[in-house]
This record gives sequence, structure tokens and C-alpha cells, in this order.
Amino acid sequence: MRLQGKTALITGGAKGIGKGIATRFIEEGADVIIVDMDRVNGEETANELGQGGGSIQFVELDVCNEDRVETFMKALPKLKLDILVNNVGWTGLRTPIDQMDLNDWRRILDINLTSLFLMCKHAVPLLKSSQPSSIVNLASVNAHTMVPALGAYSASKGGVLAITKQLAVELAPEGIRVNSVSPSITFREGTLRRNSASALSDKSLDCYPLGRFSTARDVANAVLFLGSEEAGFITGQDLLIDGGMTSQSVSAMVRDDLRAGWKSGMYKLEAEPEVES
Ligand SMILES: NC(=O)c1ccc[n+]([C@@H]2O[C@H](COP(=O)([O-])OP(=O)(O)OC[C@H]3O[C@@H](n4cnc5c(N)ncnc54)[C@H](O)[C@@H]3O)[C@@H](O)[C@H]2O)c1
Repeated sequence: MRLQGKTALITGGAKGIGKGIATRFIEEGADVIIVDMDRVNGEETANELGQGGGSIQFVELDVCNEDRVETFMKALPKLKLDILVNNVGWTGLRTPIDQMDLNDWRRILDINLTSLFLMCKHAVPLLKSSQPSSIVNLASVNAHTMVPALGAYSASKGGVLAITKQLAVELAPEGIRVNSVSPSITFREGTLRRNSASALSDKSLDCYPLGRFSTARDVANAVLFLGSEEAGFITGQDLLIDGGMTSQSVSAMVRDDLRAGWKSGMYKLEAEPEVES
């Protein structure tokens, strides 16, 4: 039980990756609080995970609203907080930058970045009083590699990387570590499948050297490591959870001969043409 006696607060824990993190933390003995603005899924998740004997409570909260975040923290004056996971996030609509409405831009930055600032601002006093403690932020592979029409999302997640490093330096003297994870496209357990009718075709799968998309549990395992004292000398870092996607060269992805050779295990070096400089 790697988190026995620890209390963890997970934002956006009603479903998706946040629910996966809550599940994994409970398996490791943590007392978990999930906050989310989705009451229906939040209560359902708390009931489901509590049935297995886990200690979990759900609180309805809009993490973009400073008054409500502050009230929530103050209403829990005796709360011992060891791990904060800032998981809330939203991709937003895919919009090219020259067509993006300012309000949409602001909304995406609010949900992905400002919420994280608000949660940290009001949780840090609690985290300080139970050091060693830690914060894990959800960034994204989109903070590292870009796709068209996701400008606000990518910018917000780039901001998550920067504030993670900033807070790591600022909070280290207080015994608080701060790290982030950057998942590639992630599926909830049970919904992992290929879909040739969409962008998630076999060709997309070729982008992942490990040959599959990630699951919420993959992400949760990385968050568990960074949140726990096993990562006690790691702070200010981002951990890519991408099955090797961002390590692979473009040619390995687009050249059929390389892909076929790699898959069959029969690729021969001499078959590769010289690269022009
Ligand atoms: N799923 C992926 O493919 C993927 C890939 C990379 C990064 N991420 C990041 O991982 C995190 C979780 O992603 P997900 O796919 O599980 O998302 P999701 O949409 O399944 O769940 C997000 C949760 O956050 C809650 N939420 C949204 N705004 C909120 C607010 N203002 N206050 C409180 N709760 C709010 C939603 O109600 C929802 O329950 C996000 O930060 C996302 O950017 C996801």
C-alpha cells in the first residue's frame, strides 16, 4: 500500500482519467476526495469506488471559480492534504487561430490553466502543513507536439509545463514537490478499440511504437509514482506517457518500408536510401 495514510485531492475525478487516478490511489490505500462540477458522475464514481471499501468522498465544485475554491478549502480546516492532482482539462473545439473567438480562447485557458493556479493557491497552505507533500498536474502530449486547430489547448498545456517548473522551484523549500504528466490520446478502460472510420485508425496506431493507445490506468500509474514518496527526489519534471510516440522519427511513421520491416522484424539496414543533406 504505497499511499496508506495519505489524503489525495483529485480535480475532475468524476470520470475519465481522473476516475482512473482515484481508482488507483484507493487501491494503494489513500483517502481520496474527488471534486468535479458533474454531480451525477461524481456521486456515481464515489459510490462505485466506495463499495470496494475505499475511503472516497465527492464534492461538487467548479475549479474555475475562486470564491468557491476558497470556500471549499476553508470548509475543510482540519483536512490533511498530502497529494493534489490537478486533472481538470478540456480540449475545446478544434478551431484555427484566425477563427478563434476570444471567449473560447479564455475559456480553454481558464479550465486548463487558471483552475490549476486557483487550486494550488488555496491548497498550498494545507500541503505545507503535511510535508512531504506533492502536486501532480495533467499536461498533454499536445504541449510537446502540435496538431492543427488546437492552439488554445496546446498553449494552455504548455503553460501547465511552465507553472509546474515554477512551482517546483518555489515550493521546494516547503517540502512540496511538483511534477506533471503528458499523456497521449487516452481511453477509459473498456473502450480501447480501433476505429477505422475515424482518425483513430490502424495508421494512427502506427504512431505508437508500443502498438496501442494509452489507458486511464497507464496515466494513473505515472501519477501514482510522481505523487508518492517513491519519487521523493523528483520535482519540476514532466513525464510523457505516449508509448514512445514523441521519440519516433517522422520517417519511421510515414515510410511503409520502415514500418513493414519493423513490424515483420525483417528490416535490413542496407535497404535504407542515403539521406540527402
Ligand atoms: N483523454 C485524453 O486523450 C487526454 C490526453 C492528454 C491529456 N489529457 C488531459 O487529462 C485530463 C483529463 O482528461 P479526460 O480525458 O479524462 O477528461 P474528461 O473530459 O473525461 O474529464 C474531465 C472532468 O473534468 C470535469 N471538469 C471540467 N471542467 C471543470 C470545472 N471547471 N470544475 C470542475 N470539474 C470540471 C468534467 O466534469 C469531467 O468530469 C485533462 O487535463 C486532459 O487535458 C487527456
